[in-house]
Amino acid sequence: MATQLPKMTLFDFLRAIWRILAGRPQTPSSLEGNKLLKIIHNRRSVRRFTQREMPDDVFAAILEAGRLAPSTVNLQTWSFATFNAETWRATFNRTIPFKAQWAIIVMGDTHRNRAVLDTFPQSPLVEYTVAVMNASLAAMNMNIAAEALGVSSVMLSETGRSGLLDAGYLKQKLNLPDDVFPIMTIVFGYTNKAYPPIPPKLPLNQICFAGEYKETDPQVLEDWIVQMTAGYKASFPLSSLDAQLNVYKSKIVNAEKDLNRMVFHKQIHG
Ligand SMILES: Cc1cc2nc3c(=O)[nH]c(=O)nc-3n(C[C@H](O)[C@H](O)[C@H](O)COP(=O)(O)O)c2cc1C
Repeated sequence: MATQLPKMTLFDFLRAIWRILAGRPQTPSSLEGNKLLKIIHNRRSVRRFTQREMPDDVFAAILEAGRLAPSTVNLQTWSFATFNAETWRATFNRTIPFKAQWAIIVMGDTHRNRAVLDTFPQSPLVEYTVAVMNASLAAMNMNIAAEALGVSSVMLSETGRSGLLDAGYLKQKLNLPDDVFPIMTIVFGYTNKAYPPIPPKLPLNQICFAGEYKETDPQVLEDWIVQMTAGYKASFPLSSLDAQLNVYKSKIVNAEKDLNRMVFHKQIHG
């Protein structure tokens, strides 16, 4: 279905921004002091970093949180390519996105275990999904560990040629064997700015259902897309949600071909 972003009046725009700014995590009062919940609720994607150095042991602790993440049958179908500012520049001839201090390219990896275990040879889609799932959990562990250590981060799928949408480019740059495929890049650093407000998240009563699937209220969905459009414009005045989606669309055809080749060993023409 084509993207249909709403046209909005200034009143709609201001109302949407007001609603975004009013968004708060819903923590039961009995649990308000819980430190881990606070870290999870306060986490934001941060895209502005200072040049304060991030110590090696902090980065090591973040990686260790990734290593210890849960995975299907403990298969650990992931690899992490790590970079500091210098090694990123040496590899990609540019700064880490948003001038962050460290970066990890998180990859699904079903190649490593093949030496000792052929897990799901007849089910490449399941095998791929499992690897994406596991690697994403490792990524989230690292993201939360960073927050706990006062380090901010953002996960990236396209910015700076560094994620899923640049799988083919990264395969060549990092000399990746077949069955190792980039999923996202996480960039880390310190920030001295207040965290951005919570972007529009759908309410719990629209994403949870007890038992059978429940369709989301169309009015809530419409309201959400208005807030998404307004929030994006307020955060990136020179861009728009539409423009951002178009960046993805412009790269998706190649990404689809690259991933088919890398993961399913299928050559897609056209
Ligand atoms: C897998 C993944 C890929 C993402 N890719 C990008 C990206 O390429 N560029 C970017 O600016 N943000 C990216 N983000 C961050 C999302 O935009 C962000 O998580 C979302 O807007 C919600 O905001 P929050 O993380 O502050 O809750 C990505 C997030 C995830 C989980």
